[in-house]
Amino acid sequence: MKTIAILTLSLLSLAALAEPFAGGDAKQGKALFDKHNCNSCHVAMINGGPEAIFTRADRKVKSPADLAAQIKRCGSVGAKLTAQEELHISAYLNQAFYKFK
Ligand code: HEC
Repeated sequence: MKTIAILTLSLLSLAALAEPFAGGDAKQGKALFDKHNCNSCHVAMINGGPEAIFTRADRKVKSPADLAAQIKRCGSVGAKLTAQEELHISAYLNQAFYKFK
């Protein structure tokens, strides 16, 4: 029993290494991103189209941890996301823009 638990845990951590937001679903993340109008502020701030904030040369997010923290910060403004929703959005933004491994 114990061996199985340990094996399962090591497999889970391997999966976490392979994909930083393994528990998130990019498709649901995109839907949440649109539903909560996440780009409403970003577009007003930055020239260059709705996604420019994620692709600008001096973007702020440099790691999966940065991405999770920024989504938490932005989400707290109005969207009031659950941890699972934050994970979905992380997975979406990572897949579409940041490409952290
Ligand atoms: C009330 C305005 C506002 C809303 C709404 C908002 N953001 Fe932001 N967002 C900002 C600001 C301001 C920054 C830039 C922070 C900086 O440059 O330090 C930012 C930056 C970001 C970044 C980092 C971009 C980079 O430089 O790498 C991410 C990721 C992000 N927002 C995600 C989201 C998500 C997801 C949502 C929707 C849940 C959201 N934001 C909604 C204001 C907002």
